[in-house]
Amino acid sequence: MSKQTDNFYNHFSFFYPVVDLFLKPQKHKLFQEINKLPDGQLLEIGVGNGSHLKLYKKHQVTGVDTSFSMLNIAKKQQTAHIQLLQMNGEALLFPDQTFDYIILSHVIAVVDAPEKVLAETYRVLKPNGQIFILNHFTPNNWLRHIDKAFQLFSKAFHFKSEFHINSLTTIKKFRLLREISFGQFSYFKLLIYKKA
Ligand SMILES: C[S@@+](CC[C@H](N)C(=O)[O-])C[C@H]1O[C@@H](n2cnc3c(N)ncnc32)[C@H](O)[C@@H]1O
Repeated sequence: MSKQTDNFYNHFSFFYPVVDLFLKPQKHKLFQEINKLPDGQLLEIGVGNGSHLKLYKKHQVTGVDTSFSMLNIAKKQQTAHIQLLQMNGEALLFPDQTFDYIILSHVIAVVDAPEKVLAETYRVLKPNGQIFILNHFTPNNWLRHIDKAFQLFSKAFHFKSEFHINSLTTIKKFRLLREISFGQFSYFKLLIYKKA
């Protein structure tokens, strides 16, 4: 994780609730899926300001983030079944096979080293554990040109506007279970994978 990304989110934490407004409908679907799952240990990498922490209804949740400002806001939403830790998703401090579920919500295109995050995800996930990746993905239609044009600008906001999940080799270690789209012209998808 670079100091720049960390600094960016420390300063951006104040404005994040505005961005979050646009992410709410997809997060609603994410939590519908999560709250259907059997009990278990759940890790969210890049938990951010924790605006959605109240939507975790039943699991034992560990949320990690590198930004202390985001975590400080998240702590206001913390309840007894949630622990929050400042930690880098590219180098997690948990033993192998600790978690049943791992959530990557709007984080895989933000981290500096997505391959490292996926490798760490694989390591700390139990066999048959599931990962939930909610993100924007560059579509295979004319909208991809917008992503391309936006690429330079998006760098300033520390995310990759042009993003293809299958360009990450580590994702091949997981088996895709489901792909949930949010409409033909939506950039967002929820991808659910299993540790094979
Ligand atoms: C776009 S926000 C998403 C927050 C939240 N998951 C959501 O869906 O609203 C990305 C978050 O990832 C965090 N982040 C960036 N790089 C990280 C890393 N290497 N490890 C852990 N968190 C990281 C940022 O500090 C920020 O809080």
